[in-house]
Amino acid sequence: MLLEIKNLKTHYRIEKGTVKAVDGVSFSINEDEVFGLAGESGCGKSTLIRTIMRLIPASARVTADTFSFQGRDLLSLSDKDYREKILWKEISMVPQSAMASLNPVHRVGDQIVEAIVTHTKMSRREAEDRSINLFEVVGLQAGLTRSYPHEFSGGMRQRAMIAMALALDPSLIIMDEPTTGLDVLVQERILRKLAEIRQQAKKKKAILLITHDISVIAEMSDRIGIMYAGRLMESASAKDVFNEPFHPYTLGLKNAFPSIKVLDQELISIPGSPPNLIDDIPGCVFSPRCPFAIPECDAGRPEYKEVKPRHFAACIRTDHVEEFRKRAGDKETWISSRSKA
Ligand SMILES: Nc1ncnc2c1ncn2[C@@H]1O[C@H](COP(=O)(O)OP(=O)(O)O)[C@@H](O)[C@H]1O
Ligand SMILES: [Mg+2]
Repeated sequence: MLLEIKNLKTHYRIEKGTVKAVDGVSFSINEDEVFGLAGESGCGKSTLIRTIMRLIPASARVTADTFSFQGRDLLSLSDKDYREKILWKEISMVPQSAMASLNPVHRVGDQIVEAIVTHTKMSRREAEDRSINLFEVVGLQAGLTRSYPHEFSGGMRQRAMIAMALALDPSLIIMDEPTTGLDVLVQERILRKLAEIRQQAKKKKAILLITHDISVIAEMSDRIGIMYAGRLMESASAKDVFNEPFHPYTLGLKNAFPSIKVLDQELISIPGSPPNLIDDIPGCVFSPRCPFAIPECDAGRPEYKEVKPRHFAACIRTDHVEEFRKRAGDKETWISSRSKA
């Protein structure tokens, strides 16, 4: 296992209380796997990866039963060791907004050179050669290293950020909504390029891909995690998540995305909205919106149990999944749950 996380919690302390943005999440990523994390906006995706990248405010509280990378305990690792040994060299990130992450007053290539020189023993000259090579790898012409960020289109900036993330040849690349806001064709091209880069790289590369776009996740991921209100509802191979989901939330999401369903089917979205993450929720966080909920669902937190090998779901009613799968395709099922939400 490259990254192993068990019962990770990241709680923000604010005046009104504690925001349980990540609240007991468990998953792991193999060294050559793409793990896709999907979930509605506000469910804690960015907090989760910012916790891995150590980009959350010092006032936030991070706890876990296991939080290890390449067998190293990340909880006890000092910030200094993290910066010197892990950041960029082993874990890098393509941030949510490429524009906000590039410095507008420096040439794009210089920013990559700077990152390389800061974190390695490479000379400036070597770093310049490497940055040109990286540009070619992500499909940007070498001469473009001399451009400024504003001279790039959104897709080009995103490629530059991928080049930056590849600069020190890391084992894990974390991507936060890497193609959101880009034209569908540009998205396609970037994702295809990324797959090609991974295949050609000498060192195995895992990707933690975050998006609210299920079709991007479906296309790219080996395994998928479905997050809701700070918790993982389900995780499994991409095939199993789409073909044999166990969690009612996954069943609802699946209905909401037309791209993975037959086209003449009506789009069903799940009535209601996610809970406030400040509230204490003793039971299942999805139960107020779940058409299959029973009183027991609110009694205690459902165990995140292995329903099949490497397929996990946090639902106490998985014994009834056959029935739920049948009923989930019917619009009535979701409408009638609205009264409870
Ligand atoms: N620095 C912060 N302080 C307090 N609350 C925060 C902070 N950052 C994010 N949150 C809250 O944590 C929750 C999860 O946010 P986020 O991780 O950004 O979700 P996502 O990336 O899935 O949209 C939201 O309720 C958000 O308002
Ligand atoms: Mg986010």
